[in-house]
Amino acid sequence: MDKSILVELISGCLMDVFHIDSGGDSAADYFSAEAYSSLKWIERQTYTRTNHAKMLVGWREGAFLTEFAKMVGARRILELGTFTGFSLLCLAEGAGRATAAATVADKGSFQIDAIEINDELEYIIREGVERSRYAKNINIFFGDAKLLIPNLPSAKGSAPQYDLVFIDANKREYLQYYNLVFPLVKKGGYILADNVLWYGKGVGDAPQKADAKTQGIREFNSFIEKASADSSAKIKSHLLKLRDGLYIIQKTE
Ligand SMILES: C[S@@+](CC[C@H](N)C(=O)[O-])C[C@H]1O[C@@H](n2cnc3c(N)ncnc32)[C@H](O)[C@@H]1O
Repeated sequence: MDKSILVELISGCLMDVFHIDSGGDSAADYFSAEAYSSLKWIERQTYTRTNHAKMLVGWREGAFLTEFAKMVGARRILELGTFTGFSLLCLAEGAGRATAAATVADKGSFQIDAIEINDELEYIIREGVERSRYAKNINIFFGDAKLLIPNLPSAKGSAPQYDLVFIDANKREYLQYYNLVFPLVKKGGYILADNVLWYGKGVGDAPQKADAKTQGIREFNSFIEKASADSSAKIKSHLLKLRDGLYIIQKTE
């Protein structure tokens, strides 16, 4: 796929979600009633039972993830950093839309592996997933993504399995996650990495003093920039300025 097609794909997704700015009517219109109600439940639980609601991707980026997963027809997805399950259900909704309505609920029509290190969030994630129509399509793994990725069932086969990987875990470790998941992504598949603008500190001139998360994001961004410019590059990439920045990387070889 040449870069202009990648950008066209992204623009297509944005066309459908740019009007979404809150969990109000626009989000309710975009999502199915069932998906909206599960996402609303997760959002409410996140605000009332955790101290980190700002970590949610939110409605507009969530809708973008849905649209993206649908447009690329993702059937095998990996998420790193599930938190309370909001982005997970957005990805599931996209994969579900991409699958014929009659087979959506069938296990095997699509599968998402989700990894979260904090098992105290398990009760919210599991209930949110159960409230959706995608419980059979989602496998949740608790533990450190760096240790779990090489042992995922999908990592055991000889051929890469994933159409789409969403990276949203520890900002200090993005490059490690990327290197671990890259061999597991199919040719033509995508890696999305969230928060790469990192409040503006992830791009531009290096700050005099950078904390470990900023350093992790800058190291990742610089690697992707160089790898994309390399004439023998195995990737194409586009940094989308949506919310806190989303790197869209396509594995071309
Ligand atoms: C920004 S939040 C994810 C938000 C979520 N994607 C959403 O929008 O609904 C980051 C999550 O990554 C988890 N995390 C951090 N380090 C991790 C690791 N090494 N392995 C797996 N999860 C990790 C954190 O516990 C946290 O829940």
